[in-house]
Amino acid sequence: MLKDPSQKYRPFAPVHLPDRQWPNRVLTRAPIWCSVDLRDGNQALAVPMNVSQKLELFQTLVKCGFKEIEVGFPSASNTEFAFNRRLIAENRAPEDVWLQALVQAREDLIERTFESLVGARKAIIHLYNSTSPAQRRVVFGKAKKEIVQVAVRGAKWIQDRLPRLKGTEVMLQYSPESFSATEVEFAKEVAEAVMDVWQPTPQRKMILNLPDTVEVAMPNVYADQIEWICRNIRDRDSLVISLHTHNDRCTGVAATELGLLAGADRVEGTIFGNGERTGNLDIVTVALNLYMHGIDPKLDFSDLTAMLEVYERCTGMTVPPRQPYAGELVFTAFSGSHQDAIKKGLAEWERGGRQHWDVPYLTIDPTDIGREYREVIRVNSQSGKGGVAYLLESEFGIELPKEMQREFGPIANDAVDRLGREVSGAELKAMFWREYIERTAPWQLQGFETESRNGLVRCHARLLRDQQPVEFSGEGNGPLAALVHGFSTAGVPRFEITQYSEHALGAGEEAAAIAYIQVKHSDGRIRWGAGVDTNIELASVKAVLSALNRS
Ligand code: KIV
Ligand code: ZN
Repeated sequence: MLKDPSQKYRPFAPVHLPDRQWPNRVLTRAPIWCSVDLRDGNQALAVPMNVSQKLELFQTLVKCGFKEIEVGFPSASNTEFAFNRRLIAENRAPEDVWLQALVQAREDLIERTFESLVGARKAIIHLYNSTSPAQRRVVFGKAKKEIVQVAVRGAKWIQDRLPRLKGTEVMLQYSPESFSATEVEFAKEVAEAVMDVWQPTPQRKMILNLPDTVEVAMPNVYADQIEWICRNIRDRDSLVISLHTHNDRCTGVAATELGLLAGADRVEGTIFGNGERTGNLDIVTVALNLYMHGIDPKLDFSDLTAMLEVYERCTGMTVPPRQPYAGELVFTAFSGSHQDAIKKGLAEWERGGRQHWDVPYLTIDPTDIGREYREVIRVNSQSGKGGVAYLLESEFGIELPKEMQREFGPIANDAVDRLGREVSGAELKAMFWREYIERTAPWQLQGFETESRNGLVRCHARLLRDQQPVEFSGEGNGPLAALVHGFSTAGVPRFEITQYSEHALGAGEEAAAIAYIQVKHSDGRIRWGAGVDTNIELASVKAVLSALNRS
């Protein structure tokens, strides 16, 4: 890298818009969405989708609620042409869905595009040519005037052929490609020249798409460019102003959101942000960002996981685990304090304690998009007792008493740390079983009987101590008190039971019960134990032995 990058790179010249309005606005409704997955997204794949993959993704987009779908670049290849024909011939698009076809300002390509659209119910013909200084200089070697002529010629070729699409409702779209790197005054000039040809009206609007083909500046600059166009272009009410952002500076979403504040009506992008280089705008993120503020996005992502599966299979792309909303890890907390806060927040929500979602660390309820609470907490060495307890309870109904969580949490953490990886709920349960339930040394239960007379319980315990039989009797006001008394008569150092709780581990008569017991020894040491049995009395005796075995 250069010590002085200013030798090679320069700042981006901002738009002069001192009275910009967009910073004071808020978004209150969803824009018109247009998916360009099957065109811009497809163009960016090392192996483009075949017809059946495009068909499957098309159906998924329709199901999600897209009403405008750029189905391809029909003049670019036979596959693209065939796909368009098939959609139309097989009547795949619902009545309210527009099929959008992209075309350059070349007569032969426009001709072929029209052929591909014959018989469509609703079609958007999308004309583009590039307008930025670098494109004018390097690619076309043309002056501004000639670039305007390219656009106007293309617009006329389209206008002339419109009668060919009888029975098709047609909308026209123009994109000054590389708009965000173009002088706003020149972008306006080209767009108005196209408008002169197409003559849009408020009843028959034209889409003016303003692409951030390559992100060259901060999103506030794009917003200024959009507001400038919205305020300065003629016949604004005859236009649908559309945004089409890419993600070179990783601010495609921000640019779109600010562009909407700046007055745009429509958004082009792809689901999960596939697209050239760093991708197109991720529509899922913008839509769910609206949703998290209580705005109906008019797209349905109730089963985002199924959508993701189709997307990954059809495109061969993968969605990274940290991708907003869709990533595998985005509703997962590893850190203990986060887990604890989420657990408390979810509990408050489930109790119906709040009207509006306000769970720490979770911007939306994962279940709204087909994810599960269970996914929220996973356990690794960074996790605290909260996460451990949550998994044991949510997956196995094991409700550890709070203080026992404090004892078992660090034990589980150490074990996970040694493993050096994340652990599942089943693995945690196995750790708990090894630590508390399966301990049989030195004490092991052989038999325990009680009888009760005049409120006094007498017990007889048959145990193994280091594999040697030991028998004793004891008395108390309950079976556990009798057991503790019995131990003292057998010469075991004194201890007392300081906490006790139990619950069923499932339903039905044969269901096991689990008992948790805290034991305090005469020297002050405190240990927890747990026992499982279909007989609750035996479960609690086993819990006492478990605590003694851990002492
Ligand atoms: O990024 C872009 O500028 C495009 C245009 C063709 C709209 O994809
Ligand atoms: Zn693009």
